[in-house]
Amino acid sequence: DLEAQLGGLTGRRVLVRSDLNVPLDHSGAAPAITDDGRIRASVPTLRRLLDAGARVVVTAHLGRPKGAPEAKYSLAPVHARLAELLPGVHVEFSPATVGPEARAAVAALEDGQLLLLENIRFHAGETSKDDGERGAFADELAALADGFVSDGFGAVHRKHASVFDVARRLPHAAGGLVADEVAVLRRLTTDPARPYAVVLGGSKVSDKLGVIDNLLGSLLTSGDRLLVGGGMVFTFLAATGHEVGKSLLEADQLDRVREYLRVAQDKGVEVVLPTDVVAATAFAADADPQVVPADAIPADRLGLDIGPDSATAFARALADARTVFWNGPMGVFEMEPYAGGTRAVAQAIVDTTAGSGAFSVVGGGDSAAAVRTLGFADSDFGHISTGGGASLEYLEGKHLPGLDVLD
Ligand code: 3PG
Repeated sequence: DLEAQLGGLTGRRVLVRSDLNVPLDHSGAAPAITDDGRIRASVPTLRRLLDAGARVVVTAHLGRPKGAPEAKYSLAPVHARLAELLPGVHVEFSPATVGPEARAAVAALEDGQLLLLENIRFHAGETSKDDGERGAFADELAALADGFVSDGFGAVHRKHASVFDVARRLPHAAGGLVADEVAVLRRLTTDPARPYAVVLGGSKVSDKLGVIDNLLGSLLTSGDRLLVGGGMVFTFLAATGHEVGKSLLEADQLDRVREYLRVAQDKGVEVVLPTDVVAATAFAADADPQVVPADAIPADRLGLDIGPDSATAFARALADARTVFWNGPMGVFEMEPYAGGTRAVAQAIVDTTAGSGAFSVVGGGDSAAAVRTLGFADSDFGHISTGGGASLEYLEGKHLPGLDVLD
């Protein structure tokens, strides 16, 4: 329990690392948050600390600024949303992240009040590979608080000052979000109910190599299924000898993908690939989208979604699954002509969850944003992870610095 681990909460300055890295739309007059899932997921831990009378200092990153302030990466819009989600709480914003101004802002906090610090990545020390530089920055951060709560699950795979080093400098504890996410990932990796179906999408197979290695190496067994869609599927289709036209293709991964297909066959893991795709003449919604067979993609077209027959086959492969993990959209869901595959897979997972009581997890920032954008509710799934890279690295079997340091 947080109170015992931190040596008390009332009147104490508690630094919380949250993951508030949300997608922003900059096309209007003011930046608009397009998916506030990570902010909402961060609220329960903050509430718990505030209710106990802690003086809560929140640190987080947004985007990937290069160690210096950049207006478009300011956490100011996140501050506004956080204040809305914490009615009745005094929610302050500090344009300074560390240093005298930040210390003064922290000193002005009263019990049960919250201060959000500006983007931690405006300082090069946060992400530095140099232990000394990162440590010196962590010292400044640690000077702001009496205890540390690690709750930014989406960033626990980063060996950064606010994730890793600061935990070595303060009494610390895992927040409820980190604890919940880890419990879910343990369930996906320790004795999962079978059949186990994993749906992988997204643009590049090279981003998923570690996960596929671990899935085929240990997590999936005979009777389990690996469903592949998204941009990465064209490297799979090419590996089986199909022409993929102008579709995304990672030629340097073809041998590796052939090896995956061989290993899967030997183990009795069914790899489900699309039999039809929605192909267009260009990467645009109005580029004459047409459904074509996956083994006859015209030379002048690129695949931007799985087709309707494939969506039906994917749904069938998910119907009796007992455990489902999904990472990565099936197509360019942001454009309506290419949203059908992602929508169908989401619906199939929702049906499986409700019907056979399967445990379903949606992982990854893009997939989480996709299901919300397409109108599904978080409660339709067993769990929607706030982690993108963090969930994937966990499923790769890697050690995550931000979790190791808490143990
Ligand atoms: C994410 O979006 O996956 C996390 O917030 C981590 O962000 P990063 O990949 O920029 O470290």
